[in-house]
Amino acid sequence: MAGSLSPDDAIEAIRSAGGARPGCRALHAKGTLYRGTFTATPEAARLSRAPHLDGSTVPALIRFSNGSGNPEQPDGAPGVRGLAVKFTLPDGATTDVSTQTARLFVASTPEGFIDVLTAMRPGLLQPLRMARHLLTHPRLFAALPVLRDANTVPASYATTEYHGLHAFRWVGADGNARFVRYHLVPAAGAKVSGPAAHSESPDFLTDELDARLARGPVRFDFRVQIAGPQDSTVDPSAPWQGTQVVTVGTLEVTGLDTEREHGGDIVVFDPMRVTDGIEASDDPVLRFRTLAYSASVKLRTGVDRGAQAPPV
Ligand code: HEM
Repeated sequence: MAGSLSPDDAIEAIRSAGGARPGCRALHAKGTLYRGTFTATPEAARLSRAPHLDGSTVPALIRFSNGSGNPEQPDGAPGVRGLAVKFTLPDGATTDVSTQTARLFVASTPEGFIDVLTAMRPGLLQPLRMARHLLTHPRLFAALPVLRDANTVPASYATTEYHGLHAFRWVGADGNARFVRYHLVPAAGAKVSGPAAHSESPDFLTDELDARLARGPVRFDFRVQIAGPQDSTVDPSAPWQGTQVVTVGTLEVTGLDTEREHGGDIVVFDPMRVTDGIEASDDPVLRFRTLAYSASVKLRTGVDRGAQAPPV
């Protein structure tokens, strides 16, 4: 579980790193909601009995975002990007998937993430703090090339790969189970960076996506990577060796959402919001996220999530 760190400690560390602005998501403050659908492949139903994986097309609410907690962050600034998806189940309930451009997380625990945020806080000593953090965290040091790619300015939200990082246990109708990690892979093909990106408008990623959607839907393959025997199911900073990857469906983004987040409506993408056939692993970062997201919701809306929060 999350140890002694409180969600308010996390918000405070995020604030010291430049995020947690009133009225905005504490991180991923700048983002746009879209509508779309999800249709699972026949392989999906063999891996999980979850209702949205039975092959029928279900509605999806999608949010593309920049990782920064600064809602004014220009799209040309380096940083991770997010792709969060909420699937509507046949009974009207929802289940969420939350992904970002980094293939590995920067820490294995919430406390470790707070240490990274603390080292990153702006100021004269920041380079020194970061250097010291990297030298004392060899796994993070080794992951630097992966993280550098994930922080590059993309040419488009639609040509970027996104990763779920945590392990989830998928349980089939026959009761057999396996741990998987999620990957959303653009059907348009992945490009690492956009050469002229920095000179474009501060909202060029949303503008580009809207122009692309005017020409037709944007598609992502939803792939799951099945854990190999040595792969950690509790550490999102540990690379996986498992080579078995199964395409379990297609996410189709069709256009802007105009309904949600008006008049006090709250949207939260929470990876702990799973459904029958999908179980959260014991990854402490995954379990802490619900608490941090509730603290962020309180900050941005004043509302205690209460019953809206999935069970921890
Ligand atoms: C301890 C670790 C983490 C903390 C403290 C944290 C914190 C936050 C907070 C406070 C928010 C705003 C939530 C809201 O107001 O709805 C957020 C959003 C987000 N986070 Fe995290 N996060 C963590 C780990 C991760 C990881 C591992 C991923 C990637 C898999 C991730 C991806 C996202 C995405 C995509 C959003 C935007 C969701 C949206 O569009 O509404 N986060 N995070």
